[in-house]
Amino acid sequence: ILRMTDLDLSGQRVLIRQDLNVPIDDGRITSEQRITASLPTLRLALERGATVMVMSHLGRPKEGEWSEENSLAPVARRLGELLGREVPLVRDWVDGVEVEPGGIVLLENCRMNPGEGKDSEELAKKYAALCDVFVMDAFGTAHRAQASTHGVIRFAKQAAGGPLLMAELDALAKALDNPARPLLAIVAGSKVSTKLELLSNLVGKVDQLIVGGGIANTFIAAQGLPVGKSLHEPDLLDTARQIMADAKARGADIPVPTDVVVAAQFHPDAEATVKPVAEVADEDLILDIGPDTAARYAAMIAEAGTVVWNGPVGVFEFDAFGKGTETLARAIAASSAFSIAGGGDTLAAVDKYGIAGDVSYISTGGGAFLEFLEGKTLPAVAALDARG
Ligand code: 3PG
Repeated sequence: ILRMTDLDLSGQRVLIRQDLNVPIDDGRITSEQRITASLPTLRLALERGATVMVMSHLGRPKEGEWSEENSLAPVARRLGELLGREVPLVRDWVDGVEVEPGGIVLLENCRMNPGEGKDSEELAKKYAALCDVFVMDAFGTAHRAQASTHGVIRFAKQAAGGPLLMAELDALAKALDNPARPLLAIVAGSKVSTKLELLSNLVGKVDQLIVGGGIANTFIAAQGLPVGKSLHEPDLLDTARQIMADAKARGADIPVPTDVVVAAQFHPDAEATVKPVAEVADEDLILDIGPDTAARYAAMIAEAGTVVWNGPVGVFEFDAFGKGTETLARAIAASSAFSIAGGGDTLAAVDKYGIAGDVSYISTGGGAFLEFLEGKTLPAVAALDARG
């Protein structure tokens, strides 16, 4: 893949696709991780003398309609504050953009353009006509084959991978393709079914796979142990057994909790009780791993060469059920392993326990991070590869 950093950008019109799809509540940005992650790329392009047009989506608006709710206006303001220069938001831009040489503008939400979602060739050609160089830097949207992430790459005079996209791909390759071993993955979430491809792909690569949340409950039940009223998928017990058998056949380990934290209701003030997993009662809800299990997993993390983390192992939003996730987060922070974390809930846990500075790489991808871990080729990356 051609890299933006290898190009002479001086005097060039550069269209940069970022993923500035940040959560906005009542006009206020509640997490600016994706904005801050885009800054080094934008600063570099400006320093190198480019005229910069930044393109992004926000949410999932209806094509052909403008709505305030999906406007990038709050993002343009924040980007301007962080860059220390005004970043005008251009509302109508598909047929041409005026930017002063060496300047920077943000283009209004590209998902408002008819044809964006269907990867329209006509629209992709219009995007391509806006610039001398197209830079794909939106790792978080690299799993979508849309006009702004995929089509435009085919038609731009020059198309390159941006520094953020390349850093994400390099970090993921370091973790999965040639990892320092043991390679340990933490995969947690409510359902085995939504992370089945992820589990199936990782089980062929990792040395240890720690499962958490509803996924762990399904693995507990698959071993004939009680899970009470806990979230789990009875239809997938055989699947869970197969994943464990596949792991065992490779000499990999999928440990199952030996103790858990249970409650009578799913509530922040519910009383938390630690129990051996064999003693989970019919009316219990498992909401976290127990302290012995957490300590055992933390010890595994301390020995790991690489840690890939996707998903909190308990209901960490409720403090009484966050100790398992906190223990693992602190173990990751303390370990010398190359660690990579991604996914919305995971990043919320990283923030809550204040360990962002101690994780080797924090991905800006949600769905894209998962698809990479599933072993899928991301369409935007494939398109860049095809351009050489
Ligand atoms: C994300 O938040 O995962 C990306 O910005 C992609 O958004 P999408 O799921 O609406 O395509």
